[in-house]
Amino acid sequence: MSKFFQAKCFIQYWLEAVDEHSLHSPFLFDFYTQVINKKSPSNDDEYIESLRQKLLQNTQGIFVDDPGSGSMVLTGNERAISDIARTSLSTRKSSSLYTRIITYAQARHIVELGTSLGINTLYLAQGDTHVTTFEGSAPIARIARQNFEIAQASNINLVEGNIDTTLPGFLLRTGKLDVIFLDANHRYTPTLKYFGWLINHVHDRTVMIVDDIHASPEMQRAWQTIQVNDRVYASVDLFRCGIVFFDPSLNKQHVVLSF
Ligand SMILES: C[S@@+](CC[C@H](N)C(=O)[O-])C[C@H]1O[C@@H](n2cnc3c(N)ncnc32)[C@H](O)[C@@H]1O
Repeated sequence: MSKFFQAKCFIQYWLEAVDEHSLHSPFLFDFYTQVINKKSPSNDDEYIESLRQKLLQNTQGIFVDDPGSGSMVLTGNERAISDIARTSLSTRKSSSLYTRIITYAQARHIVELGTSLGINTLYLAQGDTHVTTFEGSAPIARIARQNFEIAQASNINLVEGNIDTTLPGFLLRTGKLDVIFLDANHRYTPTLKYFGWLINHVHDRTVMIVDDIHASPEMQRAWQTIQVNDRVYASVDLFRCGIVFFDPSLNKQHVVLSF
């Protein structure tokens, strides 16, 4: 079901996606040309990518107790680290985009739901930022921590445990967030629950990224619900992820963009 559904969604995305020539909003035109469609400096992420390569070559098995919807691709609780690295992580292209979004948003305070092996977290932590990342699987969190240590990324705080219980406590002690990345528990109800909690911590220039918006009918429905939320003023569908803006000066709009 999932593979067929994703293929169908991709065809629809491909038919609908436009580029800067069809954008009327000056804000979205700039965001597309200066952030989405811009190349990152080529060697900025080489060190992080060398860590990804090590994970891709590591066939050691670990017992994964995923508290969310589980992998869309892998089954069973024992998984090779290489398989997790191959199927669960944001691609280099997507993670580089998230780094550019952070630079654009001049983000300091960043939250990532779903750390996995920590490769994407290292991308989020590249600048002068403080990243809080949430992971529910202890063996996976252990590997992510090792990667943060190897990369000497002291600006990352990994919160271990089920987001259902860890996120509310964290938010009680937290002010506004600049960039939020939702990438855990890919189901309708949890996604909207986390969205509902996090929306109390956005400001006008916060950028929220929702991953895997077409990975399943549930996620697509969650994405459609987010788009029409009263506090959302613009949303961008890049197929793999959706990007949400909260600035009331934007005319309410939704666009599907090539990436
Ligand atoms: C798709 S992976 C994250 C990938 C990562 N953000 C990236 O971009 O490479 C999702 C992760 O979320 C974790 N997760 C799912 N549901 C969770 C929950 N309710 N609480 C904590 N972690 C959860 C899983 O264990 C998994 O490691």
